[in-house]
Amino acid sequence: MMVNWKQIKRIATRGGMACVLGATVYSGAAVAEDVLSYEPHKILEDEKGKCEQCHENAVLAWEESTHKKTYDELHLRDEAKAVLERLGSKGSIRRNDECVQCHYTQSAKEAGGRAKTVMGVSCQRCHGGAVDWLDVHQDTEGMPDRKARLAKAESLGMRLTDDIYTLAMNCFQCHTVPKEDLVNKGLHPAGSDFELVAWSHGEVRHNFLNDDAKARAEQGTNNESSAETKQLFYVVGKTLDLEFALRGLSSATEEGTYLTAMGERAQNAYDALKGLGGMDSVLSQVPMDGDKVKVAVNNAGEYNGAADGIRKVAKTIESDKGKFSTALSAAGSKLPSSYQGEAYE
Ligand code: HEC
Ligand code: HEC
Ligand code: HEC
Ligand code: HEC
Repeated sequence: MMVNWKQIKRIATRGGMACVLGATVYSGAAVAEDVLSYEPHKILEDEKGKCEQCHENAVLAWEESTHKKTYDELHLRDEAKAVLERLGSKGSIRRNDECVQCHYTQSAKEAGGRAKTVMGVSCQRCHGGAVDWLDVHQDTEGMPDRKARLAKAESLGMRLTDDIYTLAMNCFQCHTVPKEDLVNKGLHPAGSDFELVAWSHGEVRHNFLNDDAKARAEQGTNNESSAETKQLFYVVGKTLDLEFALRGLSSATEEGTYLTAMGERAQNAYDALKGLGGMDSVLSQVPMDGDKVKVAVNNAGEYNGAADGIRKVAKTIESDKGKFSTALSAAGSKLPSSYQGEAYE
């Protein structure tokens, strides 16, 4: 059933409570998670054809982004070929087991079936493989209550905008580049200089839905988020950065660029959160060496335990803003004045 955008009414606003039903369950144990894995058979191969029926502007914005273009360009770049060579790998970059984890999206016909590289960093790498949730999330006639409908979609693997921790977790999985050999032997960039507000509000921005009925009917313009949302993104982003730097440190086995870069990432995120104030429930969990974040090899248990503990707190920031009000309001003066790449207009 085609849905006409003019008929869609947002029933609850994005400020509503995040639904915990169906949220991913993480094990409390201090084991390294394979942060980059997903299920190719849950990925719709014809993503563009499906999503553009109703999210045309989001698709147009994505098509101009580095996330799309990496599919068209990466394998042609000399630097990419050099990374592959230094790793001693041969063959197609688009099919290389390692490169596909972050530069591409793969789809498979059935569970365990052959995975095929079908596009770059796609809608579904961020919002979740849509095979199970596509029909539910768009069924405005069968389930007119938006909140209930999206909660059902979430239970089927959709990552929603009112759970920014879970949605933005993806960014940090890829952008911290948690791969020691890729960095130390391949000389791949050791992670991006990533701050969530700046990096999600430039070329990645696709905020075409909003609460203004008229703008919504026209799919709006590519709005900036409210100051309040940006403050939330800033604090959640720094917390994610710290968590994923610790997860990155957990797999360090040797001195080198990888260890140094992850250590710096952890320290910078720690300092930023400390500067905000009111984040002791996060900071108290970080392994320290004197007044610096501990940087050590072969220390997976301690780092992953700390990262798991930080995650528990991080997931409550959005639903318990009162408790983090000191940090959230201090974030107001830290917001970036320019963004990474140009937003689509
Ligand atoms: C037939 C129309 C339709 C199609 C096709 C469609 N969507 Fe949607 N989408 C909707 C509706 C309706 C909503 C709810 C809009 C609202 O009121 O916020 C929505 C909302 C969303 C949201 C925002 C959810 C939130 O957290 O607020 C995301 C993300 C999304 N869709 C992703 C996708 C992706 C990815 C695809 C392609 C795989 C897709 N949609 C295809 C109709 C559609
Ligand atoms: C863990 C995720 C991850 C993996 C795995 C990965 N990349 Fe990347 N790659 C990134 C990210 C993130 C960037 C963007 C870095 C930036 O500019 O901030 C990037 C950027 C690049 C660049 C551009 C570098 C530049 O200086 O502009 C090249 C080339 C590249 N990757 C090649 C590869 C190759 C080849 C592979 C497979 C052997 C690979 N990458 C695997 C995440 C990854
Ligand atoms: C599946 C891995 C993956 C995920 C998830 C991901 N990215 Fe990326 N992103 C990349 C890679 C790889 C590149 C670099 C591609 C290239 O240079 O060819 C990149 C590039 C970018 C760029 C352009 C960088 C530049 O140098 O200007 C921005 C901005 C960006 N990502 C923001 C985000 C944000 C924000 C999120 C989360 C909401 C996110 N990314 C999630 C892999 C990912
Ligand atoms: C790099 C990760 C990433 C990619 C790729 C991505 N999204 Fe999103 N999307 C997000 C984030 C983060 C938000 C929340 C932004 C915010 O609240 O400011 C979002 C929000 C949305 C929304 C709600 C917008 C609103 O105004 O409330 C829709 C709809 C959506 N995305 C659809 C899509 C579609 C369709 C694609 C592919 C064409 C796509 N997204 C690609 C990360 C991504």
